[in-house]
Amino acid sequence: PRCIYLSRHGESIYNVEQKIGGDSLLSPRGLKYSQKLPELVRESAGDVDLTVWTSTLKRTQQTAECLSYRKLQWKALDELDAGICDGMTYEEIENKYPEDFKARDEDKYEYRYRGGESYRDVVIRLEPVIMELERQENILIITHQAVLRCIYAYYMNVPQEESPWMSIPLHTLIKLEPRAYGTKVTRIKANI
Ligand code: F6P
Repeated sequence: PRCIYLSRHGESIYNVEQKIGGDSLLSPRGLKYSQKLPELVRESAGDVDLTVWTSTLKRTQQTAECLSYRKLQWKALDELDAGICDGMTYEEIENKYPEDFKARDEDKYEYRYRGGESYRDVVIRLEPVIMELERQENILIITHQAVLRCIYAYYMNVPQEESPWMSIPLHTLIKLEPRAYGTKVTRIKANI
């Protein structure tokens, strides 16, 4: 039976600086995760053949660098576009755009960043990715927090509106085994 593996990219420079969005490279710790990932995947998947899907952003490709599987980039796997807030910290957003900050807090699923996207928008753009996933064998998806929350909610049969609150920590490989009665989940935390 097939498996779907999910991972966020390793910790990025922007993660360290608590900035959202952008296209930064990995931090030293994030690089360690990218070096550890082949072993983590092998421990859980053994010798099965995998295809790695990444976004088009540098931090996901860097995270996939040490993996020797076939790789495919999807623009549809890029992080939720934060529009005018891209590159800011949550604190900066709260100070500069208090109304937006409040609106997002009140309805995180529907809130669309000015010039950017909402979680709902991400769910819609992920439809072709999920369709293709259904046709494929074993896939490892290396992408971003908001995108993974939506994919995870889909496979866990959680209403899409609850996607923004799924817990998808850094440096953790999530193994999904879709079954007739529900999806089996295993979380493998990297020791770094
Ligand atoms: O901080 C990392 C990040 O992936 C940002 O790029 C993105 O805007 C955010 O997480 C999504 O999380 P939330 O919806 O909780 O703000």
